[in-house]
Amino acid sequence: MWEGSLGALRFHVEHRRAGAGGGPTLRVHQIDSSRELLRFDCFDERPHFHVDPSGRGELTALDPLADNVAWTVAELARDLAGYLEKAAFAGAATWSPDELAATLRGAEDAMRNPPVDLDDLSLDVLKSRKSEKWEQYPSEILPAWVAEMDYPLAEPIRRVLQRAVDRDDVGYPIAPHETGIREAFAERMADRVGWHVSPGDIQVITDIVQGIVWSLSAYSEPGQGVIVQTPIYPPFLGAVRDTGRRLVENRLVAGDDGFEIDFDGLGGADARILLFCNPHNPTGRVFSRSELERIAELAGARDWVVVSDEIHSDLVFPGHEFIPFASLGPEVAARTVTLTSATKAFNIPGLRCAIAHFGSRELRQRYLAALPRHAGGGIGLLGLYATIAAWRHSQPWLDRVVAHLDANRATLARELAARFPGVVFHPPQATFLAWLDFTALDLPGSPARFFYEHAKLALSDGRLFGSDCEGYARLNFATSVSILAQLLDRMESALAR
Ligand SMILES: Cc1ncc(COP(=O)(O)O)c(C=O)c1O
Repeated sequence: MWEGSLGALRFHVEHRRAGAGGGPTLRVHQIDSSRELLRFDCFDERPHFHVDPSGRGELTALDPLADNVAWTVAELARDLAGYLEKAAFAGAATWSPDELAATLRGAEDAMRNPPVDLDDLSLDVLKSRKSEKWEQYPSEILPAWVAEMDYPLAEPIRRVLQRAVDRDDVGYPIAPHETGIREAFAERMADRVGWHVSPGDIQVITDIVQGIVWSLSAYSEPGQGVIVQTPIYPPFLGAVRDTGRRLVENRLVAGDDGFEIDFDGLGGADARILLFCNPHNPTGRVFSRSELERIAELAGARDWVVVSDEIHSDLVFPGHEFIPFASLGPEVAARTVTLTSATKAFNIPGLRCAIAHFGSRELRQRYLAALPRHAGGGIGLLGLYATIAAWRHSQPWLDRVVAHLDANRATLARELAARFPGVVFHPPQATFLAWLDFTALDLPGSPARFFYEHAKLALSDGRLFGSDCEGYARLNFATSVSILAQLLDRMESALAR
């Protein structure tokens, strides 16, 4: 239930019979008399609205095939006064257009995002999923490896997918730039991080790793150096290797407070490209403005192209600020390609849709000239519309997810310290991955292998993330409180043997 007020009016959203032909209801009341003036029942079956429901009760049917939440909000924005007059509202319209817009935004968010219980997960249902996380290993193995969350989908995304399936609407999509996806991204960046980008500088691509491979081909020659800050998401290493570029490892240094950039090593690197990851997978570092500025200075002095993978940027915990690298200034942007998507934060990686932002026309032209146009493949219709639904309508869901992850992160820190004091853990500043150093436990083989065999637990093996990572494993904690507890119990029993 959500409530907001506007002058003498109270707006009120509730969800009725969700999933059974029901849906959200928006009611508008007069505060002093509690009289209900308007009610919009945006139901899946027989949607309608009432004018003066507690008086003459005029009812008008809505189009069951339309997005009636969008229609309701647009109608009230256009002519709230007219609707109130029909409902015999006696008061005065004392609100400003900005106040009306803010109230309607709150109402729309609430209508589109019913309450969700992120702990209401059934292991049996999860095990029946067909995604890699749940299909890769036998069912007795509890998976905490690949970066995919266990939570239910955001309702706006579920609806867009459901509508497509209900209408057999899985044909060819219109050209991605005609869907509004680039505008949705530009508006989101402006609102959330104050980064102003032009939709014309954005290319819609299938996935981030494709963008990385494409960028390496566009901005460097075989044999030229690509700096990667290890430990790192393994496809960074694969992309450098597979395109015949030379890997220049710049290791993050584990200090008392977490992982730091080795600026001396970075300054001495011989390379054409810095393949950057912020927030960083697997350490969860969110690099500060001063760190980013030092990197930008080096990039300028060495003339590097910076390919900045910012896919985890919507999952930043309180107390940390995500700053897009290209937002540091026009000179920095001019050497930066930003790769990002909704797939990580909104948990839709199976839908294959991402974007590349180019900070200069030259970067864009070189990218587009690097490979034949059709080598990139097309982007699926479902990925395009799910991404737009994520960016435009699913922030309330994401806020709940980040709060849940934050609580899981605290649980993990507390339990690891209490139960496995030898394990070194620097809580991540963003995202749902814990990069754990098991070196002091001196486990036989790799920690991931050990826990797979003795705890029936699948973690990501540290060795995949770069050299000298043998003692590490990565654990994915984007799950319910109860499954996280099972993960920890399994680890404890294995270590107790
Ligand atoms: C840093 C980073 N980049 C890229 C990806 C994958 O992106 P995509 O599926 O769009 O290739 C991941 C997935 O975990 C990631 O952590």
